[in-house]
Amino acid sequence: MHKEFTLRYEEYGSDRELVPADAELLTAARKATAHAYAPYSHFQVGAAARLANGVLITGTNQENASFPAGICAERTLLSVAGAQHPGVPIETLAISYHNENGMSDRPISPCGICRQSLQEFEQRTGRPMRVILGGETGKVIVLAQSGLLLPFAFSADELR
Ligand code: THU
Repeated sequence: MHKEFTLRYEEYGSDRELVPADAELLTAARKATAHAYAPYSHFQVGAAARLANGVLITGTNQENASFPAGICAERTLLSVAGAQHPGVPIETLAISYHNENGMSDRPISPCGICRQSLQEFEQRTGRPMRVILGGETGKVIVLAQSGLLLPFAFSADELR
């Protein structure tokens, strides 16, 4: 039997087409890139989230001379959420970037490890986390929940 996943998402020509709350969050993610520590890749990633209680938080990538010790913006943000706002779901997460070596005119999407972390955060807080992906300019993608980025995810259910 053949089965298939269908990935539905929204695509906008630019941030000007977003509803104001989403545009505000993407702007916050773009601004956050200034606080990235990325002296090795020169690729500054910013993430900004609106929590279910309305609070806005941000995260950025933090690299290290021991490369694997570096952490992505998305997981930095999830750590901020878990540590500073325990139990509060994320309503929407926006991700943007500044590339010192090139353009930032199209969306990037989270790496595999971050997808795993986002998926578990979403599952444990019991609320779909909307995801907004956009560069400094160009088209913007909006997903209704972060779990869409990781079909066949390994989850805590498997450890029971
Ligand atoms: N990076 C992120 O922070 N988030 C992503 O979604 C992709 C990659 C970081 C990791 C590393 O510091 C730099 O970008 C280049 O890979």
